[in-house]
Amino acid sequence: MHPFAQDLLEWYRRHGRSLPWRGLDDPYPVWVSEIMLQQTRVETVRPYYRRFLERFPTIRDLADATEDEVLALWSGLGYYSRARNLHAAARRVRDEHGGAFPRHYADVVALPGVGPSTAGAILSSACNHSLPILDANVKRVLARVVVETDHPGRSPVERRLWEEARRRTPARNARDYNQAIMDLGATLCTPKSPCCDRCPVRRHCGAVAEGLAEVLPARAPRKEKPVREAWLALVESDHGLLLERRPPTGFWGGLWCPPLVEKDGHTAEDARTTLEQRLGARLEAAGQLPAFRHTFSHFHLDLHPLRLAWGGTASLGDAERTFARARDRERLGLPAAIIPWVENAP
Ligand code: ADE
Repeated sequence: MHPFAQDLLEWYRRHGRSLPWRGLDDPYPVWVSEIMLQQTRVETVRPYYRRFLERFPTIRDLADATEDEVLALWSGLGYYSRARNLHAAARRVRDEHGGAFPRHYADVVALPGVGPSTAGAILSSACNHSLPILDANVKRVLARVVVETDHPGRSPVERRLWEEARRRTPARNARDYNQAIMDLGATLCTPKSPCCDRCPVRRHCGAVAEGLAEVLPARAPRKEKPVREAWLALVESDHGLLLERRPPTGFWGGLWCPPLVEKDGHTAEDARTTLEQRLGARLEAAGQLPAFRHTFSHFHLDLHPLRLAWGGTASLGDAERTFARARDRERLGLPAAIIPWVENAP
């Protein structure tokens, strides 16, 4: 075994975190956890993971659910395409693998939402297959260990780091090794102020030797996020706040949201008349509220709330539109930024 792996495993036995998805030999809950953990912190994931598996204890339960049920349980966790992919993948497992999560890498990596690192994480964790992983934590650890001075987003760098990951992953205990390197990245080899003095692999680390741990990995050239602006139409009626289902692609895809109208030079009055046509109903202006910003991975969205009183009929007659209030939270997948507006609906 690579001495790096040996030292890391020794540390993990004493300092590894106890997490609900560890030590399971059923790939299904491990898969759910790995999808939830993509770009999301352990403490944020814990309650979502528990509720999700309570509601969908098997892949078949998940496959048989509606997309709305799945999105409702994901509400607030962000990156909603993960939930839609997970649901689509569960249907594929039900239809093409008889409901049993596949155990071959090629089948796992072919599932929607599962890339090479996630496939390695699932199969090493649940089946102890010797497969490398390379998520953001592992990239950072390895970039420091081998003193990779180019930034890890570039593909030649990524190839080199995959090779390093492969070389170090042990044949017999990849299960613990992969969890260990993720824990090291999350607890000691952190992006800022890494705790090198407590690090179990400092003697293998080039960045420690060269005093570069604080400056590696090299940052990607920073791009300013563009700002998009939209009117957030708070259409209120006796039945609550009007919500529409967002189109399946683009931000908040498939989630329920008050109608948005791209600002694009349009005034509040333009937005009101645009919406009257879109909804086929009279809308009465009832004032504006202060704008707020929601930041996505690739852009900022500035939302300008516009209150409007609904002058149409009570029945919307449209599966993609509904009036909602606080109690409907359980039923509808809502973006976190929208939850307070629904909770305070008339
Ligand atoms: N991040 C991604 N996968 C993880 C895991 N299995 N444990 C802790 N953090 C993770």
